[in-house]
Amino acid sequence: MPRISNKGRQMPASPIRKLVPYAEDAKKRGIHVIHLNIGQPDIKTPKVALDAVRNHNIEVLAYSMTEGSEVYREKIAQYYAQKDIHVTAKDIIVTTGGSEALSFAMGTIMDADDEIIIPEPFYANYNGFATAAGINVVPIASSIDTNFALPPIADFEKLIGPKTKAILICNPGNPTGYLYSKEEIQQLAALVKKHDLFLIADEVYREFTYDNKEHYSILQESGLEDYAIVVDSVSKRYSMCGARIGCLVSKNKDVIQTALKFAQARLSPPTFAQIASEAALETPQSYFDNVIEEYVARRDILISELQKLDGVKVAVPQGAFYCVTELPIEDADDFAQWLLESFEIDGSTVMVAPAAGFYATPGLGKNQIRIAYVLEKNQLVKAVHILGEALKQYNSNR
Ligand SMILES: Cc1ncc(COP(=O)(O)O)c(C=O)c1O
Repeated sequence: MPRISNKGRQMPASPIRKLVPYAEDAKKRGIHVIHLNIGQPDIKTPKVALDAVRNHNIEVLAYSMTEGSEVYREKIAQYYAQKDIHVTAKDIIVTTGGSEALSFAMGTIMDADDEIIIPEPFYANYNGFATAAGINVVPIASSIDTNFALPPIADFEKLIGPKTKAILICNPGNPTGYLYSKEEIQQLAALVKKHDLFLIADEVYREFTYDNKEHYSILQESGLEDYAIVVDSVSKRYSMCGARIGCLVSKNKDVIQTALKFAQARLSPPTFAQIASEAALETPQSYFDNVIEEYVARRDILISELQKLDGVKVAVPQGAFYCVTELPIEDADDFAQWLLESFEIDGSTVMVAPAAGFYATPGLGKNQIRIAYVLEKNQLVKAVHILGEALKQYNSNR
């Protein structure tokens, strides 16, 4: 029988999805599973975006331009200008989700065996994109005790070697919810300039910042034009994950020209979804104000309920809609599976994402889980109650 590739064998399975069969079995047994494990927002997609597709009179659903429709890119540039990010349509390539922007970025700047430094815990799919690109992730640990703030620059310097090509951050972070400060971005800016590295920032959660904290983009940092690559997406911003539209943004012309060749190979981003995404840019600020108010209320209730549980440590998120929580257990993988297989209260249980899959260093995060607060407040309260009772029973059985 012909063999599949080594790369294929090394490709990591999603840590979030590996518990799905256990959740399906629980559902077949009639158990209601409260999903704290996935980042699919329950917020409604703006009506303008859906109407734009509904009312469009397309007769031929043609390819769009490889780099995305001109008008759409112009409008994205206007959106950035409102955020004090000054780029033009030429600095933007529209992609099939932030996911494709990440693969384009890695393909554009890195060769096989090159290294990319990423603060951990990080969005688990970075491992998948890196494996597909044949490059190595070099993790640098951040700690729940500092809410997952940027690790000291001296620790980065220890990891930089001849193969290091880039540093990748997620701001605000999935799974940490950490929002890097302007000062932290400036420290990273100085570091990448000193060592001639690229700085990739995944800013797909830009809109979701709390407690009056403002997001500071790497594209706002002057002097970083040749180094900065931003990955962006409409998925979370407009609760449009299924549209599959994102973009790659850089002022570095070589980066854009090279990424464009990767984009040419896949022809074009989806046409209908660009129409929806262009219309979504008309979404009024009041939409975001309401959404953010809702997420803050959810975060607050989730954190205060979690803090009532014995032995539980929580990193308070300032952005995105995730939170990493340390539990008084040894193995969150085992606990998450046990929750689905062996535990229920009045016919309900919860599904969580074990956090070890968000770390690249073996052994880290084993007693942590990621909770996505994309559910209504009463569901979150119920879920934490179940979690608390489950911890008592799980620990008394051991
Ligand atoms: C941090 C981060 N980056 C990128 C993505 C990819 O998003 P998409 O491809 O839907 O734009 C996600 C999706 O969850 C994410 O959490």
